[in-house]
Amino acid sequence: MNEREKFGSRLGFILVSAGCAVGLGNVWKFPYMCGQFGGAAFILLYLVFLAILGFPIMVCEFAVGRGSQKSCAESFKKLEPKGTRWHSYSYFCMAGNYLLMMFYTMVSGWLLYYCYRSAIGEFTNATLSTEQVGEKFSEMTASPSTMILWTVIAILLAFGICSRGLKKGVEKITKVMMVLLLLLIAVLAVHSLTLPGAAEGVKFYLVPDFKAMADHGIGNVVFGAMSQAFFTLSIGIGAMAIFGSYLDKKRSLTGEALNICLLDTFVALMAGLIIIPACFSFGIKPDAGPSLIFITLPNIFNQMAGGRIWGTLFFLFMSFAALSTVVAVFENILSFAMDLWNWSRKKAVIVNIFALIVLSIPCILGFNLLSGVTPLGEGSNIMDFEDFLVSNNLLPIGSVVYLMFCASKNGWGWNSFIKEANSGKGIGFPAKIKWYVTYILPLIVVVIYLKGYYDMFSAKGMMYLIPWLIAAVAFLAVVCYLMFSRKKNRN
Ligand code: ALA
Repeated sequence: MNEREKFGSRLGFILVSAGCAVGLGNVWKFPYMCGQFGGAAFILLYLVFLAILGFPIMVCEFAVGRGSQKSCAESFKKLEPKGTRWHSYSYFCMAGNYLLMMFYTMVSGWLLYYCYRSAIGEFTNATLSTEQVGEKFSEMTASPSTMILWTVIAILLAFGICSRGLKKGVEKITKVMMVLLLLLIAVLAVHSLTLPGAAEGVKFYLVPDFKAMADHGIGNVVFGAMSQAFFTLSIGIGAMAIFGSYLDKKRSLTGEALNICLLDTFVALMAGLIIIPACFSFGIKPDAGPSLIFITLPNIFNQMAGGRIWGTLFFLFMSFAALSTVVAVFENILSFAMDLWNWSRKKAVIVNIFALIVLSIPCILGFNLLSGVTPLGEGSNIMDFEDFLVSNNLLPIGSVVYLMFCASKNGWGWNSFIKEANSGKGIGFPAKIKWYVTYILPLIVVVIYLKGYYDMFSAKGMMYLIPWLIAAVAFLAVVCYLMFSRKKNRN
């Protein structure tokens, strides 16, 4: 068996893991959720969840990856006590990574397309009306061929990078993308903050408005903030664990996870600081929801001096953020076949290019030919459903699995986890908070998870609430069974 590949440098590990975390969650979801849910009030809640939930879970994932030297396809099997069934969760992890990419590649394709459209001046035309910018978005989503083309471009770009290997492809190119992304942030933020009237936007962003938050239902906002904390850190489906498996033992994992969380939070906050003051400056409310980036902003660029160049740079920034995640998750996906069946990287790349193209199609068709398919009730589409399965189910429940695996005697166990997390120089994980990791954290996640279900579906009518709540409870039951059952004939 080949020796496991390793990162070339510590910076490489931090930037690739941060690249996995930094993505649509930071530059698309975070600003629009912030605009919808009351600005700073939502940010406060989100930061609390990042600190109390996301950060410790990230350390658990890295520890499982580094301790097993495997991706999530094999890591539980390698570390679990004999006779236990934690390894069954590997299937959910693998499914989660594919599901995430089934809609993520499409939105990454949109961003690349918008970068191209901005560069050729499609959105900077004095005669273009606000409605026409909206129509351009609708034209794109109505055209399966356009969306398939740009999704395939995103898939080929990302797999092209992964095909060059961990060090020469993923690490080298992600480092460049992340540095460019940080430079673009600086340029775009300075520009946005110097627009006339930007101060109002900064105020909205920094002064909490709890009333706006309450108007959306506290339960919805809390659930949104928690799901966003999981989504932005890509935790719960082993997407981060893989990078632990490529890491040496020189540094302790807590300090590394802290760096990654800080970088991720910085990018999210800066994305909001680029977008929200610009909206205020042009007298537009930032509460449009998902269309904020694709309709509201191009309209703003159209009115802005030098809008063509600012728009292009903005969508380039968004594309780098999205692609850094796609590359990282594709690396994880490739490692499944390489770990499980010893496939060569080349074979894994070729098979997965085809797999991901086919798997992305339902989401694309959900905007046009299959727009009648509304699994989450009226107004929803296939992308919403895929996002719901990953963000509202697999990420929180998977996070509980990682926590319990690290803390429970029936799993890898607290001592093994602490030993792995604290190997190397740097901040140690506090061994005294075992009670918090074992009882409090999982309880918080499960309570908010079920409450979120209730709030989300009760508004749409009991017809939706009951089946989905049964599904949520059944899913929880399956996970508990995996965590605590042992085969009788164990050694
Ligand atoms: N962490 C990734 C993002 O925020 C999934 O987009």
